[in-house]
Amino acid sequence: MSLRVAIQMDHISSVNIHGDSTFRLALEAKARGHKLYHYAVGDLALKDGVLTTLAEPLDVRAEDGNHYSLGAREELNLADVDVILMRQDPPFDMGYITATHLLEHVHPKTLVVNNPLSVRNAPEKLFTTLFPGLMPPTLITSRADALRAFRAEHQDIIVKPLYGNGGAGVFRVKPDDENFNSLLEVFTAFYRLPIMAQRYLPEVRQGDKRIILIDGKPAGALNRVPAEGEARSNLHVGGRAEATTLTKREQEICEAIGPTLRDQGLIFVGIDVIGDWLTEINVTSPTGIQEIERFGGGNLAAQIWDAIEAKL
Ligand SMILES: Nc1ncnc2c1ncn2[C@@H]1O[C@H](COP(=O)(O)OP(=O)(O)O)[C@@H](O)[C@H]1O
Ligand SMILES: [Mg+2]
Repeated sequence: MSLRVAIQMDHISSVNIHGDSTFRLALEAKARGHKLYHYAVGDLALKDGVLTTLAEPLDVRAEDGNHYSLGAREELNLADVDVILMRQDPPFDMGYITATHLLEHVHPKTLVVNNPLSVRNAPEKLFTTLFPGLMPPTLITSRADALRAFRAEHQDIIVKPLYGNGGAGVFRVKPDDENFNSLLEVFTAFYRLPIMAQRYLPEVRQGDKRIILIDGKPAGALNRVPAEGEARSNLHVGGRAEATTLTKREQEICEAIGPTLRDQGLIFVGIDVIGDWLTEINVTSPTGIQEIERFGGGNLAAQIWDAIEAKL
């Protein structure tokens, strides 16, 4: 089966070919004989119900400094491609949400991965609240009194922006910290959104586990251990990746959320687990497949393409 595949992404010139999951998916697509197009979210246009984009035919190679070539820009009717990979990085802002509305005009006739309606409906931190018993104690609110009461109850807490990513704006507030009220004021002024407060999970010192689910089934995992003196495990801020396997509790978490992911067309998902607790369900542009493959976790890119091809 040779497919026409359009990849909506940040420009390929800037990817790290040894870490980027989108690049890995492009290489696997090429190996399967699929025809690739590259475009940016800003190139979309919807007119009279027809969704087009300016796209460039894309070729990829696992070669540093020579990892891609782009053909001449052409106008592409997105109803005429088989698959769209929606892979631009967050922020999950109104631009991101608008892109999901536009792509809904072609999905599912053109299979968009992940389903744009479901992506819009599953902001990564809020989505976890739909699965009771899996999240650590968590409060979402703009109310300072409720946040202070939550802190009094749990003593050691994490405060984070509701739509953040990459560890940005994540603070640990210890019991003796005197800056809490000030932090709330700054958060409220900066984000103008409810805040997420969570009980601090000391198990994070052993790592924050990324588990990849493909069509609702766990396919591989990676542990990320925060650097000394750092609360955040994200690889971008110095977290160290290490090989890992799934605990029984983690398998239960996957079983609990897997059917929902599959029903909602969330084919490529990355969840984050600290200790026994689910903290995030990443559906926008999850990463981690290259690291898992390098630790001997199998060919995840092939499994993702198998899942996509099985739906066509
Ligand atoms: N409840 C928690 N307890 C301990 N550490 C946490 C908690 N929540 C987040 N962290 C730390 O902060 C990092 C980033 O938080 P996360 O919720 O994953 O947001 P982001 O979307 O920015 O990655 C995590 O990888 C972890 O190291
Ligand atoms: Mg995270």
